[in-house]
Amino acid sequence: MSKLPLPPGTPGLPVIGESAKLTSARFLPWVQQHYARFGPVWHTRMLLPTRVPQSFEIAMLVGPAAHRWAMVEHWRDLSWHTGYEFLNPFFESGILNSDEEEHAAAVKAVAPVFNSNYTEVYLRTVLSLCEQQLALWGTQGTRLLRDDLRLITLGSIERILFETDMEENQQRQFNTLWMTFIAGLAQMPWQRTYRQALRAKRAIDQILAALIVHEQTLLSQGQPRTNVIASLLRAREYGAYRLTDAGVMSHIRMLAFAGHETTSSTLEWLIVYLARDPALQSQVRVATNAFLRYATPRHQDLASSLVDAVIMEVMRLHPMFLMLRGVTKDLEFNGYRIPQGWMVMLSPFAAHRLPEVFPEPEHFDHTRFLAPQQVPPYAMIAFGEGKRSCPGSHLAWTMIKLVLAKILQFYDLTLDPATSLTYSSDPPPVAYQSRA
Ligand code: HEM
Repeated sequence: MSKLPLPPGTPGLPVIGESAKLTSARFLPWVQQHYARFGPVWHTRMLLPTRVPQSFEIAMLVGPAAHRWAMVEHWRDLSWHTGYEFLNPFFESGILNSDEEEHAAAVKAVAPVFNSNYTEVYLRTVLSLCEQQLALWGTQGTRLLRDDLRLITLGSIERILFETDMEENQQRQFNTLWMTFIAGLAQMPWQRTYRQALRAKRAIDQILAALIVHEQTLLSQGQPRTNVIASLLRAREYGAYRLTDAGVMSHIRMLAFAGHETTSSTLEWLIVYLARDPALQSQVRVATNAFLRYATPRHQDLASSLVDAVIMEVMRLHPMFLMLRGVTKDLEFNGYRIPQGWMVMLSPFAAHRLPEVFPEPEHFDHTRFLAPQQVPPYAMIAFGEGKRSCPGSHLAWTMIKLVLAKILQFYDLTLDPATSLTYSSDPPPVAYQSRA
């Protein structure tokens, strides 16, 4: 192994290396040029947002074979704790930023979130939050949907996590804290948003501590509770795992973070693409109206290959930007040595735009996913792959489909035809007109 060459590349100056490429406008052209020149692996160097910002030697891996190598064949040799070190001040032993036994314990602790008893309650919550939020829209207008969608996704996740009725003002303050917390996580420690996120974390924990006491009281009175704090507390009582109050809070913070922004941003793009294409919007509406044929939909009512394909195409174009892993021992990929101590960097955002895998990658074409055999295995990694793929994908699909169904039931959506959507655009505002 030690005789193998290091991957080729243009790692650049000491310390800073190619960090300047990490912006949404410059990253993709950089990946495409390097992929064309070096193939699926190259060496780069970047300053990453660790607690003490540090320069890392990085193996950039792109494409289905590289994904399979990192996510299926060598996942045990790579460390999420080192890769997502920047998350460690925010989540002490969270499921995403831990490895081995610590990760196994976290998986076991949060497993109830993904249990079907919760998802039924959750379907009703998503619908009622959606109705509340849409009631504020009026009959027509133009709006940036981000905040509305964030409130719906956050509220839905909160329902599963702690099932509590807060007074409106208190709820608003709590939501602001979550958004401040999430907005600062991937920032450099000297940035104001990072310090604000740490302050928000302390304030969130005070509220969570009170919720833990509240749940303990209700549980001791024998009240039926269907929320994650309650199930973590019950499991702790029966001695299934040692979980402190701080551990409960860390899991709750991690789930709110992992499940909220990802889902609302997928929804926001989904609505933008449908607003741009009225014909597709009408076809999708026929399918999503059927989702709502019963007052309380069940999972089996949400099946539609068309809607699935449209959502997949949105997730192809707007997935997670980067995934990071620490290399725990010398490894080999494609004839090159990837040394212990390096980082492995994967980018769903860039990999989903490889023209040989997804022809005309910037063109929105949901039909790619109507014939799934057209998409090679491990090409699409919007939810990750292998043992550590996203455990919340099912919840996310449900939430996305229900919110979409409600919006299309009430409104026709349009997008200003002059709006251009490029890989570095932010989602634009969408115009809506009541269908009533
Ligand atoms: C459209 C919405 C979502 C997307 C695109 C998404 C994407 C992902 C991806 C790509 C990963 C793997 C990260 C990596 O390997 O580095 C992941 C992990 C994870 N996701 Fe999601 N996710 C979504 C929704 C959710 C929801 C709703 C929840 C739960 C409430 C959730 C909880 C998690 C957790 C706990 C992990 C860590 C799993 C582990 O490391 O074992 N996600 N997600």
